[in-house]
Amino acid sequence: MASNLMKARFGNSHSEGMVRSYLIQNIRVENMHAKHWLQWAGASGLELDDLLSQEVLSEMHALAHWCGHVSLTDELAVAVAATNYAVEGATGDFSCFVCSEETYELTFPEPIRKSAMCWLKVHAHYDDAHMWVALDIVATLLGTNPPVESINKIRAAIRKSYDYMRMTLDYVYGTPKPLTVRAVEEEPVAA
Ligand SMILES: [Fe+2]
Repeated sequence: MASNLMKARFGNSHSEGMVRSYLIQNIRVENMHAKHWLQWAGASGLELDDLLSQEVLSEMHALAHWCGHVSLTDELAVAVAATNYAVEGATGDFSCFVCSEETYELTFPEPIRKSAMCWLKVHAHYDDAHMWVALDIVATLLGTNPPVESINKIRAAIRKSYDYMRMTLDYVYGTPKPLTVRAVEEEPVAA
C-alpha cells in the first residue's frame, strides 16, 4: 500500500485523490489488523517470536512477492485491482464463510474467544465493503472509456492474485512437504 501511495500525488486528479484517502485510511486500519492477527495467533498457541522466526516456504511466499511486485512496478489501477480488490476481497469472503457458523469460534475457550476471533470478524464486516470501494477506485482511475488493453491487464492481474492465493491454499490444505532449509553454496573466500 505504501508503494501505491507513492504513485498517487496530492492534487493531481480526483481519482488519485480517492486512492490517497483510501490508502492512508487503510494503512491505519491494517496497523490494527496486525494486532488482531497476533491475538488470533496467541490464542492458537503462537507467540510473536514464533511468527517472526518461522521459515516461510516458497509456495506461501509467492502471493506476498506478487503483491510487492505488482505494487512496485505496475500502474496504480492494476496494483489496486490485484491487491485491495482481489486479495482483500477474497480474504473478506473467506472470513465471512468462517464466521457464518460458530463451529470454529467455539474451539477457543470462552475467556479468549472474543480476542481470538477479532481478526476474522473485522474482515468479515470491513472487507465486505472494502473490495467494492477498491473496485470503484479502479473504475475511476480507468475512466468511462478505458482501452481494451487496460481492461485485459487488470483482469490478468486479478486472476494472477487468485492463482497465487490458490497456490498457497493448495499447499496449506495439501500434504505439506517436510520443512527443509535449502543449503546455500558459498564461494570460497580468497586467502
Ligand atoms: Fe486487514
